[in-house]
Amino acid sequence: MLTAVVIDHNQSRAEETCAALELLGHTPCVQTTADAESLAGADVVILAPPEKDDGLLDTFRYIREQDPHLPVVAMNDSGRISPWDEEIDRGCIARIGVPLQLAAVREALQQVQVYRENRHLEGDSRSPELFRNLVGTSMEVRRVRTFIEQVAQTEATVLLTGESGTGKEVVARNIHYHSPRRYKPFVPVNCGAIPGDLLESELFGHEKGAFTGAVSSRRGRFEMAAGGTLFLDEIGDTPLHMQVKLLRVLQERTFERVGSNESLTADVRVVAATHSDLEKSIREGRFREDLYYRLNVFPIHVPPLRSRAEDLPLLVNDLLQRSAGGDREPMSLTVDALVALQRYPWPGNVRELANLIERLAILFPGRAVELDELPEKYRPGAFSVVAQGLEANARSDMPTTLPRDGLDLKAHLNALERSFIEQALEDASGVVAHAAKRLRMGRTTLVEKMRKHEIRRKA
Ligand SMILES: Nc1ncnc2c1ncn2[C@@H]1O[C@H](COP(=O)(O)OP(=O)(O)OP(=O)(O)O)[C@@H](O)[C@H]1O
Ligand SMILES: [Mg+2]
Repeated sequence: MLTAVVIDHNQSRAEETCAALELLGHTPCVQTTADAESLAGADVVILAPPEKDDGLLDTFRYIREQDPHLPVVAMNDSGRISPWDEEIDRGCIARIGVPLQLAAVREALQQVQVYRENRHLEGDSRSPELFRNLVGTSMEVRRVRTFIEQVAQTEATVLLTGESGTGKEVVARNIHYHSPRRYKPFVPVNCGAIPGDLLESELFGHEKGAFTGAVSSRRGRFEMAAGGTLFLDEIGDTPLHMQVKLLRVLQERTFERVGSNESLTADVRVVAATHSDLEKSIREGRFREDLYYRLNVFPIHVPPLRSRAEDLPLLVNDLLQRSAGGDREPMSLTVDALVALQRYPWPGNVRELANLIERLAILFPGRAVELDELPEKYRPGAFSVVAQGLEANARSDMPTTLPRDGLDLKAHLNALERSFIEQALEDASGVVAHAAKRLRMGRTTLVEKMRKHEIRRKA
């Protein structure tokens, strides 16, 4: 499906890469170095690690000169760290490890596919971050992931609900990405942001002269998404007269461009999302009940961040990696700061967290942010658990991302363990049995750990 130029000096490894690519239905072509002609015909470049310092960075820069947007997948010989690592790391769309694993190659190329699709789509300038996988290991996130896997293979219409910033679009893209339609476009429409009178032509397109200003004919989103997925975002804000039209397309799978009599087939998988309570809107007469049932075939609720605080460290890590791009030094959080963030209620959910991390990364490049450096509202204040009784000393400069020069993992984990035990005890007002339950461990195990960490029981 994609033409992949594999740049590798190592012939046997190159053959292996080609075999993997062919197996996945792509067309590989091996080169020992990049040349303008083969790059011009390429959809993606797979860059193998050098045997020694054989000018890989020059090759990479050459590729960028030829085409600044050509996706490059870098193969990562994980045992080796080279000076070229960083620039290529920043500039590549995905990395795959050596020895090759088919699943990793597939993932990387899907990433490329989605990226290309997105670039070719008119009007969709969303950032690549929305293609990321759903980060998190909490029960809630695992449940969402299971739903995604179950529904992706089907053609069922999905209705995503959840507060603002929880990741509904991330889920929508994941559904598309895991579906048989993944090689076709994913087309988002924000039904709330497009003025009511324009929404019809936006969705269904129009013929030349259909209305004043329609100087040429234009495809609508339903046509653009042909074969793929149409993401109807903020569906709750769709004006009533458009709800009728949407209902008709969903029922009959046909539509007409504005100003045309010709019926077109809607070959789209629909995923809709809303942050509002549609059942309430129905009661208030702002949303059609029949449309609701059409959309609500497979509902998925995306949980708010505060109900899955355990995912926060992973999310922070993920966001830090994202903000580490550019010339900025990576930033990290001390354990105290992280603990405080885990207790914050996050009304703006992951989006708010992403904004905070972005801001901290600018303010504190290259170092661990202390608790008292967090903006006021993120500090515990009222529930000053962290400040109380905990000797913050040893932990205060503990990073949450792996520093370039490494760290003492055992000591780090010990300190983390201690910190969580102290918090659990604090929250349980010192009742060991309750704290043990929260930490999902036996009471005696916890007592042992308390002894190990020299944590005294509260009187
Ligand atoms: N589980 C997650 N893993 C990684 N990033 C996430 C996750 N959830 C959300 N994000 C990030 O949070 C931001 C908000 O996500 P998204 O736009 O999908 O939210 P939303 O639910 O559609 O919000 P809204 O209702 O306000 O449109 C994005 O930058 C997204 O990349
Ligand atoms: Mg959204």
